[in-house]
Amino acid sequence: MRIIKTKDKSELGKEAAGIIAAQIKAKPDCVLGLATGSSPIETYRELIRLYQNGALDFSHVSTVNLDEYLGLGREDAQSYYCFMNEQLFRHVNIKSENTNIPDGMTTDIERECLRYEALIENLGGIDLQLLGIGHNGHIGFNEPSESFSTVTHCVDLKPSTIEANKRFFDSANDVPRQAISMGIQTILNEGKILLIASGPDKAAILREALLGPVTPEVPASILQLHNHVTIVADEAALSEIAL
Ligand code: F6R
Repeated sequence: MRIIKTKDKSELGKEAAGIIAAQIKAKPDCVLGLATGSSPIETYRELIRLYQNGALDFSHVSTVNLDEYLGLGREDAQSYYCFMNEQLFRHVNIKSENTNIPDGMTTDIERECLRYEALIENLGGIDLQLLGIGHNGHIGFNEPSESFSTVTHCVDLKPSTIEANKRFFDSANDVPRQAISMGIQTILNEGKILLIASGPDKAAILREALLGPVTPEVPASILQLHNHVTIVADEAALSEIAL
């Protein structure tokens, strides 16, 4: 596991975008696994800047997002579909047919999960997966539990996740209670993993995830068993880890 410490969130965005850009340059038709939330916003901003400067070409890139809220349609401003369009896709030359996000409006959840898992397999797997980390250690929407989840599945969001994510909604009541998420096994199958974390509020969980026991109570701790993980985190998020 490689840990890169940055001064702040903006430097973190540049470091993480540099790693993603190197992946795209090495394999222009690569498959990127993407995340939403606050953590990747600077990274996406930097990727957009590199594209606008002519340094990056997304025309052969495919993307697969980690998760989507159940019950939110593509037109919903809080959907992860909308987030990705706003924060990255509409600013670069990626083909919309090459971007993939679980269907939050599916009427057949089981089938949608199977479709998503098959889609990742048909793409030949994910070359590089970008991850954030929840305050409770979740990755994707794989919440703390008694066992590690396997493949793409429907998740009941924990009250702490609803609380953390209510900032994007009018109130906590508006946060969907369920989501479709890639499973832990889906994530572990991925070639390379890039986990980003910033701010003092992520310090304790980052220490637990990276240095504590591997346990489904801290889903991100499973990354200790993956052989190609890079962590890019700022000083505040790494303040509880001696490097
Ligand atoms: C988002 C996702 C989540 C977030 C995590 C951290 O697609 O899968 O695991 O990465 O909740 O969220 P932020 O970055 O908002 O702190």
